[in-house]
Amino acid sequence: MGSILVTGTDTGVGKTVVAAGIASALRAAGVNVGAMKPFAAGQRQASGFASADAQAIARAAGSEADGEALINPQFFDFPASPYTAAIECGAEADVGAALAAHGELASRHDAVVVEGMGGAMVPIRAGYHVADLAAGMGAAALLVCPRRIGCVNHAIMSIHALAGRGVRVAGIVINETGGEMYPEATLRRDLEALTGARVLASLRRLDDAGPGAVASELRSSMDVGALFGAGRRAQDAEAPAAGRR
Ligand SMILES: Nc1ncnc2c1ncn2[C@@H]1O[C@H](COP(=O)(O)OP(=O)(O)OP(=O)(O)O)[C@@H](O)[C@H]1O
Ligand SMILES: [Mg+2]
Repeated sequence: MGSILVTGTDTGVGKTVVAAGIASALRAAGVNVGAMKPFAAGQRQASGFASADAQAIARAAGSEADGEALINPQFFDFPASPYTAAIECGAEADVGAALAAHGELASRHDAVVVEGMGGAMVPIRAGYHVADLAAGMGAAALLVCPRRIGCVNHAIMSIHALAGRGVRVAGIVINETGGEMYPEATLRRDLEALTGARVLASLRRLDDAGPGAVASELRSSMDVGALFGAGRRAQDAEAPAAGRR
């Protein structure tokens, strides 16, 4: 099937929740699915994988047996982009290791769900961003967009960044994160008109945002398997159809 990189308009917008939901939905459909978070940074877990995100998505995929070295090749004990965290930790972000780990997971699994770090232009090394990593992996991208005021600006920039690197944008998932929120229909209309990408699902705020519950929410409005094939390339998505505003 291929790989999908779940990115977002910002940090904390629901990438892990959505990535775990997609992995869970694929697994429930009988797909052999792997998961990875190429770089993670912040608070190290007391037990299990260093990265809670990596552990959560691998657990949802049922792929923890791949091991932490493949699922999360690099962890930094400093909450920042891989670029900044690496400097602070006196290390270097190893893009080659991340791409090699992805290649190995892609050879073991029919589909790989990759959680990106922060947003599409988060720096990994100088001049190398999450969008470049998606391109390097040959992954399509799924953009998680909260219903926050201000997210349209971030969504347009994110899709522009992905488009510029030839990454196919499979679509957008709107996520209800609380705070001041756009009416859902208004946001959906404007995101589609302005980015050309389709809104595939709109996730409401759940009491239980675990992978099973999110999977069933996503399945009710989208074909999760189609993420890997259908959809326009980002270049096409960047140019809205004539007549649309
Ligand atoms: N639809 C939802 N319903 C309820 N809680 C949600 C929902 N979406 C996200 N959350 C919660 O919001 C918080 C942030 O979500 P999440 O960790 O998935 O964001 P993220 O984009 O992966 O963040 P990071 O950039 O740190 O990786 C989490 O506590 C998560 O459980
Ligand atoms: Mg996350």
